[in-house]
Amino acid sequence: MERLQKIIANSGYCSRRKAEDLIIKGEVKVNGKIVTDLGAKASLSDAITVNGKKIEIEEKEYILLYKPRGVVSTTNDDKGRKTVTSLIETNKRLYPVGRLDYDTSGLLLLTNDGKLTNLLTHPKNEIIKQYVVKINEAVNPVLIKKLLSGVVSEGEKLRADRVKIKKLDKRKNKTIIEIVLHEGKYHEVKRMFAAIGYQVESLKREKLAFLTLDGLTSGMYRHLTIKEVKKLYNLAK
Ligand code: URA
Repeated sequence: MERLQKIIANSGYCSRRKAEDLIIKGEVKVNGKIVTDLGAKASLSDAITVNGKKIEIEEKEYILLYKPRGVVSTTNDDKGRKTVTSLIETNKRLYPVGRLDYDTSGLLLLTNDGKLTNLLTHPKNEIIKQYVVKINEAVNPVLIKKLLSGVVSEGEKLRADRVKIKKLDKRKNKTIIEIVLHEGKYHEVKRMFAAIGYQVESLKREKLAFLTLDGLTSGMYRHLTIKEVKKLYNLAK
C-alpha cells in the first residue's frame, strides 16, 4: 500500500504536489469512490482514476539508447520524421529523459518512470552531461576557456563545468572538444559555441552521470540494470 499521491506521481501522470491538489479537489477516485484524504493509501491493484481517466500503472522500463543523427527525441513528429521511440521494441509508453537535437547523436535515456525523469532533468540535481563537439575551424584556446567562466546567449548565462581541447588540427582546420555541463538548457552547447563565434559541426553526447555508450553503436540500445537505476536515484537525491 502506498499513498495515493505517490502512486499517481509514479505513474508519470503529474508531480506529487499536483496529485495532492487533484485529491483535495475531489478529482481522484479509488474503486469508484472519491478520496479527498491526503493520508489515504491504495495498492497497485486498485482502480485509480483522475477526472475519470484511469491511471495506468505500468511496470517500469529504462532504456539507454545510442541515438543516431537524423532522429527526433519525441514520441511523434508532425513533420513525419523518424522518432527515438520507433527505434525501441517495447509495449510500454516510454518518454525521453530530456532531449537531443535532431542532428545530435549519443546517449539518451527513455523511460516510463516519471519520477526519475523529473529528478534527472531538474537543474538543482546537477546531473552531468558530457559532449564531444566537432568544429570545422582551428579554434582559439583562449576563447574556449571563456566557456568555463560563462558566456551570455539570448540573455541567459551558460557555463561549462569542464572543457578540454582533444585535438586541434590547424592544417585541416578542425577541432575536437570535450565539454561537460550540468544544466540541460535548450540548444545549450550550440549556443555556447555560437556565443564565442564558432558553429558546431557535429555534436555527440557520450556521457550522462556515470552512464556511457560503451558496448553500443549508433541506433542500438540496452536496458539499464537495477543497480544503475538505484544509483541514478541516489545521485539525484
Ligand atoms: N546542446 C545542444 O546544443 N544540442 C543538443 O542536442 C544537446 C545539447
